[in-house]
Amino acid sequence: MVQAFPDASPTKWHLAHTTWFFETFVLGAFDRGHRPFHPGFSFLFNSYYEAVGPRVERPRRGFLSRPSHAEVLEYRARVDERVGRLLETGPPEEVVARVVLGLHHEQQHQELLLTDAKAALGTNPLRPAYRSEPPPAPSSAAPARWCAFEGGVVEIGVADRASGGRGFAYDNESPRHRVLLAPFRLASRPVTNGEWRAFMEDGGYARPDAWLSEGWDVVRADGWTAPRYWEQRDGAWWTFTLGGMRPVDDAEPVCHVSHYEADAYARWAGARLPTEAEWEIAAADLPVEGNLLRLDAPRLAPAPSPPDDGGAPLAMFGDVWEWTSSPYSPYPGYRAPAGALGEYNGKFMVNQTVLRGGSFATPRSHLRASYRNFFPSRTRWQFSGVRLARDA
Ligand SMILES: [Fe+2]
Repeated sequence: MVQAFPDASPTKWHLAHTTWFFETFVLGAFDRGHRPFHPGFSFLFNSYYEAVGPRVERPRRGFLSRPSHAEVLEYRARVDERVGRLLETGPPEEVVARVVLGLHHEQQHQELLLTDAKAALGTNPLRPAYRSEPPPAPSSAAPARWCAFEGGVVEIGVADRASGGRGFAYDNESPRHRVLLAPFRLASRPVTNGEWRAFMEDGGYARPDAWLSEGWDVVRADGWTAPRYWEQRDGAWWTFTLGGMRPVDDAEPVCHVSHYEADAYARWAGARLPTEAEWEIAAADLPVEGNLLRLDAPRLAPAPSPPDDGGAPLAMFGDVWEWTSSPYSPYPGYRAPAGALGEYNGKFMVNQTVLRGGSFATPRSHLRASYRNFFPSRTRWQFSGVRLARDA
């Protein structure tokens, strides 16, 4: 039930909330005989759906000492059983679609479970590991290369599922629409820890000329001098991973930087962040492969990019979410769906920035080139990193 800070939710809450999502939006909507598992659970485990009713304030989720973990597991088992029975009846397409949405919602929370568990463990002065295992041997990263793209009038986003039939996508990825891109270049791999240290050693966190005004305010207010989880020990940089404290590996993609930091680094490096349209065009024909969440052997940190074959950009999927320069806004013609589920994405389309590509903690079947993640620009407890772009 530990809540490291207001934005991070407790593990137990994530588990109960994803269960509540199925109970509310599948059983509550389609299972006629369903009675709520507990009259108070909707208040406890509703995240932000105003149309469903009042709820525990987000910063107070860590005070929910009851229900116990065992009761939450029982809640989950009961809801799973009812959903399973509903599916056995060969339900209409809208019920199946709602279950699929619940599964994708749960995949989002699978990643958040790891980010928030890391936040909880990393806040503990003992820096306990989520799972102990020996750190990988230090490695080296090939220099980044610029991959050229023609631009032009391109199409991004997903056609309406009703007409497109391309499998699952969130509403915020639609409609598919045209965008004008000038020719651009994209770095062949994400920025590494070693490159980030050069920025730090050049006074990157101490020179206002590199920073957006808001970012500079946050640097000074929060005293940032390095990515989140970095610590200096005996003159060397260490970082907290899910596997515990490790020396910073210069070849790994830098992780746990905010949009403000990503933007400042890019300016310092004589480059810029890609727009989300540039990123999507570069990824559109690539297979969704890379250092993604593997349930059989989950990794504990991003990995150095594979050897450069001189072709398409590497590690577009997996390792670290890549900050773009694009504000999280509705695509032209976007309309949030009717009803409570219209609150899933649409109402967050202000003052947030788009990230693309997934991290080492994102399930592979959760991702696609059109996938839009979003967080406020100062956020850095997510597995977020940087890929540079330049005008051609
Ligand atoms: Fe949720």
